[in-house]
Amino acid sequence: MNSQIKDSLDRPLRDLRISVIDRCNFRCQYCMPAEIFHENFQFLPKSELLSYEEIVRLSKIFAGLGVKKLRLTGGEPLLRRDLPTLISNLVKIEGIEDIGLTTNGVFLKKHAENLKEAGLQRVNISLDSLDDDLFKKMNGRDIGIKPVIEGIAAANEAGLGVKVNMVVKKETNESQILPMARFCKDEGIQLRYIEFMDVGHTNGWQLKNVITKKELLAMLQTEFDLEPVEEDYFGEVAKRFRYKGTTAEVGFITSVSESFCSSCTRARLSANGSLFTCLFNGKGHDLKSLLRSDMTDEELTGFIISLWNRRDDRYSDERAAGTVKKQEKIEMSFIGG
Ligand code: GTP
Ligand code: 5AD
Ligand code: SF4
Ligand code: SF4
Repeated sequence: MNSQIKDSLDRPLRDLRISVIDRCNFRCQYCMPAEIFHENFQFLPKSELLSYEEIVRLSKIFAGLGVKKLRLTGGEPLLRRDLPTLISNLVKIEGIEDIGLTTNGVFLKKHAENLKEAGLQRVNISLDSLDDDLFKKMNGRDIGIKPVIEGIAAANEAGLGVKVNMVVKKETNESQILPMARFCKDEGIQLRYIEFMDVGHTNGWQLKNVITKKELLAMLQTEFDLEPVEEDYFGEVAKRFRYKGTTAEVGFITSVSESFCSSCTRARLSANGSLFTCLFNGKGHDLKSLLRSDMTDEELTGFIISLWNRRDDRYSDERAAGTVKKQEKIEMSFIGG
């Protein structure tokens, strides 16, 4: 079967973001604050994680429903063993055109080549600062930028597509906005500035800490000539601009100032096999129990179709309109962004 299913707001299902692990070697304050994710924090035991076989089985079902893009996330996905084995099986699935990985980059030097060989196409690497001390402070683990810069280089050398993600938070890393633009432009890497988002309950989000795309663009325009670029495909997350006279681009992920729910085609699978229909909707749907029961693929498919058909999430639109209802949310590190 290769059907196109639509949700209640007429949005197709095109992307599946798969978290493969809930652990991370960093403790970024805006995602996994160290006070909460301390050394006694109970992460998922191995038996709770979906096995690679289970992830592949589900991915085949999703591909049959129109999913074309897979993105592996965490926590930090490279903490999961043998990720290339998973990728080499995902690549074979009919209908899957694009497989990406979102990572903090620290382990890329070691794994980039194997990942590429397995069939990974692209990596999005998080880097919030080029200043060592500030970076250490932000990642909560006293790790400087060196391993990340080496990870970026290794990914480039391996022939992976590379983008850099920078979460911008007021009074934290504003000083890095222009240095990061210069660095990525010189390296020929697309940088995406991400507006700090109110994901989960633990990151102390306040609207006053958000630096909007408009403010970022104004800052960039003091130094660069930029022109907008058309979106590549329906539902692209970043709004992109080109440095005039070059092929280099910079992007903005504007969940707060210009929400993009009307074209949201993404489903999210947590490491323990729950399906989430929005980054901000904490109500997961337990697919792991279904996978581990005697349900057939057809029955699982039917379950997912009926879930997607009922989907009406549009949290960022509602945040912008001031109509958000109090709802349980999910932690960023658990669902992988
Ligand atoms: P590309 O395929 O390279 O465009 O990947 P991506 O930007 O979709 O994925 P990535 O994991 O690099 O995410 C970058 C940022 O966009 C993260 O902060 C994500 O949380 C955010 N993001 C991705 N999808 C959504 C979404 O559907 N809603 C919101 N609000 N943010 C999203
Ligand atoms: N707001 C915006 N982006 C975030 N990320 C993690 N937490 C937040 C947040 N609160 C980013 C990471 C990574 C991507 C998956 O999401 O830095 O680049
Ligand atoms: Fe880890 Fe990424 Fe979260 Fe930082 S943002 S704590 S690197 S999962
Ligand atoms: Fe999609 Fe929810 Fe993000 Fe809106 S807030 S774009 S519905 S994940």
